[in-house]
Amino acid sequence: MSALFFWRSTSFLLVSTLLQSTVIRALQVIGGNMTVVHGGTTILPCKLIDTTEPITQISWRKEPQNDNFFTILPPNEAKFVNGRDDRFEFIGNFGDNNGSLRLSNVKLTDEATFTCIFTLFPSGNVHTAIPLNLLVPPFTSVKDNFPTLGNEEVSLGTCIAAGSKPPAKVQWLTGTLGDKVRATIHFTQHANGTTTTVSSLFGVPTREINGHMVTCVITGAAMSKEERLPFTIQILFSPIEVDIHTRSEDSFECVAEAKPEADFTWSRSNKTLLQSAVRVEGATLRFLSMTSDLNGLYQCEASNPYGRKRSYIYVYVNSARCTACWILFSLLLILIALGVGALWYSYTSGKFPRTGEVTRGKRLKVPTSSSPEPQGTEEEAREL
Ligand SMILES: *[C@@H]1O[C@H](CO)[C@@H](O)[C@H](O)[C@H]1NC(C)=O
Ligand SMILES: *[C@@H]1O[C@H](CO)[C@@H](O)[C@H](O)[C@H]1NC(C)=O
Repeated sequence: MSALFFWRSTSFLLVSTLLQSTVIRALQVIGGNMTVVHGGTTILPCKLIDTTEPITQISWRKEPQNDNFFTILPPNEAKFVNGRDDRFEFIGNFGDNNGSLRLSNVKLTDEATFTCIFTLFPSGNVHTAIPLNLLVPPFTSVKDNFPTLGNEEVSLGTCIAAGSKPPAKVQWLTGTLGDKVRATIHFTQHANGTTTTVSSLFGVPTREINGHMVTCVITGAAMSKEERLPFTIQILFSPIEVDIHTRSEDSFECVAEAKPEADFTWSRSNKTLLQSAVRVEGATLRFLSMTSDLNGLYQCEASNPYGRKRSYIYVYVNSARCTACWILFSLLLILIALGVGALWYSYTSGKFPRTGEVTRGKRLKVPTSSSPEPQGTEEEAREL
């Protein structure tokens, strides 16, 4: 009975001594909890303090493997076990009981708990666990879904934070649009531990919300600062309100509201546009000469991938607007004026015989005449 009790208490003492020594020894190795951004460099710290026992080896393990992947022997002989990985570098010092490693170009697969083990003589192994946490910043983008004008709610745009660890937060700032739009959020987990966050902005694609500026805001532990992606809501629609404006006496411009912008085609009903008479420069139709054969109905068609619409103009060139006619008319007037002037001069200066004199001359030969004489008579008179 008493022997059994003795055994029990001894075993209790033994267990508690073991626990205590483990606790004390674990505290002697200083490690850390490290967090690093994907692609970056980190230190895996490991230092043994408060020991007088000689150290025979420092070794490193990575969970879940239970084998060493790296060992350091005195004086400072570091070597890889089961293959090199030059991203690991021993930066400690055996003599200082410092087994720290530096790991550069950190990959997602490096995320694990590393264990640093000091082998003491005669006590055996003491170790510490160093968790390595990885952060992966997302690839951010905002995508236009190119909605067309309609009455049904559709996705207007999508904001994406791809491959983030931990998952990124994606929000939309919609300003004055208020409840005309709403956002949905969707997470996709990848096998490598990253998450893609997709947020779509939904709304009824009206002309009212067209052109509104909104912002997608992406935040996350893996990002040094929030990212703001501006987005303009663009509703696509076929040409509407096609107007023809008179730009000058001889040119007309076609104007239409459309998204994307309309292309314009000018044509003439029932006739072809004469290349020699008109110039079409984008939306503008210009007449090279204003002649009445250009008179007629002209059509402007505005089109984009979503539809087309036409507008018409009737062109009428009246004589007052005919420059060539004006020149001819003016010349005619000058000629007439000159002719009348010359006639008047001749008449008043006597160089041209007066009608009465002609009659008189005729009378000399034909005394009976008092009535208007025929043409031949006049010639006769001149001969005199
Ligand atoms: C280590 O740090 C990370 C991130 O700061 C934290 O989430 C984790 O709980 C910590 N782990 C330990 C074992 O302290
Ligand atoms: C994780 O996986 C996703 C999906 O396969 C991939 O797009 C991404 O590049 C990966 N991330 C890293 C850091 O390897």
